[in-house]
Amino acid sequence: MTIKALAFDAYGTLFDVHSVTALCDEFFPDRGAALSQLWRSKQLEYTWLRSLMSNYEDFWHVTEAALSFAGEALKLDLTDDKQARLMNAYLHLTPYPDVTSALKCLSHLPLAILSNGAPQMLTEVVANANLSAEFKHLLSVDSVKIFKPHASVYQLAPDTFGVAPHEIGFVSSNGWDVAGAAHFGFRTFWINRNKQPPEKLGAQAFRVVSTLHDVADELQKMN
Ligand code: LAC
Repeated sequence: MTIKALAFDAYGTLFDVHSVTALCDEFFPDRGAALSQLWRSKQLEYTWLRSLMSNYEDFWHVTEAALSFAGEALKLDLTDDKQARLMNAYLHLTPYPDVTSALKCLSHLPLAILSNGAPQMLTEVVANANLSAEFKHLLSVDSVKIFKPHASVYQLAPDTFGVAPHEIGFVSSNGWDVAGAAHFGFRTFWINRNKQPPEKLGAQAFRVVSTLHDVADELQKMN
């Protein structure tokens, strides 16, 4: 029953994707939240669609395409300069307040990020949040050229850690990612930050918690 390593989702779990809302609002007063929400939902939708189409393009380009769609759909004057600055903001996303201290509590285990993010995006967002030292591995879907929740993405973690899927704790705030990871065979910790109901995808989270600190508590209870 021992968990030997932990893999974390990045966007929405460690980093607040909606921390771009302030810059969105600066460019488009009162439309920031709408732009940020549509940008994120299109971004995810494009990952799923591209995976189904066997037409992979890395997460940076998917994120840029989603921003462009969202701007057009909301009839915003998204100039090249504004688009570039919003994309740059994606490299400086704010970590959630529990992240830095919780990772320290979990540092007795090997820690990895396992994310849709392109390698350079992950390296930069992690470095800009001063978290580079916390992670042994930054695992990107880019090495398998398909997005979550494809099993070959989750397989990167057991291959890298050299342990079985059920010995890996997978931590995500994205309910659909938790469903994919649980279906794959990880022990999943769903940080249900947004108080969402579980996805009806036939796979249950191993533990449902509210913050990253709860993951450390749950691991202690298991010992
Ligand atoms: C990630 C997306 C799912 O970091 O947020 O993989």
